[in-house]
Amino acid sequence: MPVILILNGPNLNLLGTRQPEIYGYETLEDINKSLKKKFPAVKFETFQSNSEGALIDRLHDARGKVDGVVFNPGAYTHTSIALFDAIKAVELPVIEVHLSLPEARESFRHHSYITPACKGKISGLGSIGYSLAVEALLDAGKK
Ligand code: DQA
Repeated sequence: MPVILILNGPNLNLLGTRQPEIYGYETLEDINKSLKKKFPAVKFETFQSNSEGALIDRLHDARGKVDGVVFNPGAYTHTSIALFDAIKAVELPVIEVHLSLPEARESFRHHSYITPACKGKISGLGSIGYSLAVEALLDAGKK
């Protein structure tokens, strides 16, 4: 059974009430629950933290133990060389996900430090982006 880590960064614990006009009305729990329902043949691990170090530690822990990671790094997308390094270091396929389309928003969101370390990226499609990312990981894992 493939194992996929759903990793979420800062402020994503507030989904559902945080700027719903941008991020939607689903909570992170709703998103994680619907992934489990949609992909019964996948074992999901889920983790959210507002702290950069905890996200790095969780990626390190996943090394060699999961088949892929779906990662919404929140605002660390635009600031974190340490997360770029962590993704490179763990040598796991990571799909970067954003609910919104950062390139269509404030200019400080236009650059991602994370993208060059990732296998792919899905943004601007809302919560379905997480599910599309899982499909992409499963497809890539087929030999
Ligand atoms: C986000 C986009 C980021 O720019 C922002 O800081 C977030 C959420 C998204 O899912 O659209 O926290 O990653």
